[in-house]
Amino acid sequence: MNDKKTILSGIQPSGELTLGSYLGAIKNWVELSSDYDCFYCIVDMHAVTVRQDPALLRKRTLEQLAQYIACGLDPEKNTIFIQSHIPELAQLTWVLMCHTGFGELSRMTQFKDKSAKNSDNINAGLFTYPVLMAADILLYQAHLVPVGGDQKQHVELTRDIALRFNALHGEVFTIPESFIPKIGARIMSLTSPENKMSKSDADPDGCVFLMQKPEEIMRRFKRAVTDSETNVRFDPAKKPGISNLISVYSAVSGNSITETEALFSGKGYGDFKTAVGEAVVELFRPIREETDRLLGDKAYLESAYKKGAEKASGVAGKTLRKIYKKIGFIPL
Ligand code: TYM
Repeated sequence: MNDKKTILSGIQPSGELTLGSYLGAIKNWVELSSDYDCFYCIVDMHAVTVRQDPALLRKRTLEQLAQYIACGLDPEKNTIFIQSHIPELAQLTWVLMCHTGFGELSRMTQFKDKSAKNSDNINAGLFTYPVLMAADILLYQAHLVPVGGDQKQHVELTRDIALRFNALHGEVFTIPESFIPKIGARIMSLTSPENKMSKSDADPDGCVFLMQKPEEIMRRFKRAVTDSETNVRFDPAKKPGISNLISVYSAVSGNSITETEALFSGKGYGDFKTAVGEAVVELFRPIREETDRLLGDKAYLESAYKKGAEKASGVAGKTLRKIYKKIGFIPL
């Protein structure tokens, strides 16, 4: 167990888990979990960079925990925890902020996107959000960070901060790498396939959620935007809608892109959409049922996040003490 490398990743409970977050991140979390020492968190501190309804945030945090477990992440084998339960994270974030450039943060594309979408609340947390993410990764000395393509820039920044800190103070931080799936790194909206599928999408029909009923999932796939051709061919620039559906089908079924094209060659878009929808319905059915069951057992969920916090805080405390010592803070 101890010579295993470490993984850390997280998802914001700012909305329901989507097909994008499943294929971009969680699927790999599950696949990698037996070979690594894994830390998977629910990043509620990141979520509050955008205004949240407190009651809804609490509800979603617990639901997300249940969904992680239902996706196959055993809390006995993985450290599954709620980000805000680890006070060392905010402490490390401050130190890292003092090692991060204003210019570096200004270049983050997600900050630019999010500040455009939340022009009435461009708070300092939204700007320093990538440093909180760097602290998440570095606090647990993660080697690997399985994420979707949109988080690559943040992991690159984390590497830069860690390398800078190590050069100044000695080799304290493990330098992490991102792990991005070959298929499914960027699942697009079903209604506007030039945009990423996102839990905060203005058009709800563009998104498919883990907890959605089969009829609703099928309805959304059947209405997915395609093009005026009839062939199931992968060409993201010219056929973004169909290419997105091919990626979804490939990621869910395990077929390559070429195999998927061959499988549906000569079939119409209608048949293809139905097949993609059915594959997703069957993937999510057991997850939804298990999540519902787990949500009926609040005591179990509470014991799971308490155990996760206990395990995470052991590692977090050790790293923070080292960092404080390196930068010259006097231990109490
Ligand atoms: P978040 O909550 O926006 O997304 C969670 C994860 O899902 C991936 N993802 C997607 N992948 C493919 N296609 C999509 N349409 C799609 N939508 C979402 C994201 O890439 C991500 O992996 N800052 C992070 C959360 C975070 C984190 C961390 C991640 C906080 N601390 C430490 C890794 C390590 C975020 O906002 O992800």
